[in-house]
Amino acid sequence: MQHRDVSKIITLGSDHAGFHLKRQIIKYLENQGYEVIDRGTLSDEPCDYPDFAEPVARDVISGNARFGILICGTGIGMSIVANKFPGIRAALCSNEFSARYARQHNDANVLTLGGRVIGTDLALSILHVFLNTDFAGVKPGEERHVRRIEKISKIESALK
Ligand code: RB5
Repeated sequence: MQHRDVSKIITLGSDHAGFHLKRQIIKYLENQGYEVIDRGTLSDEPCDYPDFAEPVARDVISGNARFGILICGTGIGMSIVANKFPGIRAALCSNEFSARYARQHNDANVLTLGGRVIGTDLALSILHVFLNTDFAGVKPGEERHVRRIEKISKIESALK
């Protein structure tokens, strides 16, 4: 059996308000050599964002995919749902600065975007930064970021 490089697998979901941006993002990712899991929605018919956030969050937690991308109108509903899942750190970003620090400081594993808030070019630029920025916590002198994430995990465990 061939070994799959999970670092190149991205799982995506959107509702109707994020459907068009999701299509653009899938095109971009495939051009960049990523393997894509599309969890829907598959048209711009009105639907409910939790139905698409859940499978994406599960893909990331289970290790089926390295990162998740979730898009609704504002990105807020998707963030709320994704962050219910222990182990998910979903970051709603509308600029590259937030995307950079979501990865460097928060080790975010899901990017959420507002399809009605930002245009395609900005979304792709945010995505590029998100995918190409490493977590800083592994570097000497940056251990505080690991400590902070461990505190999040502790809270998750206490709430189980
Ligand atoms: C759908 O109209 C809209 O509410 C949804 O896409 C999202 O923005 C929710 O957070």
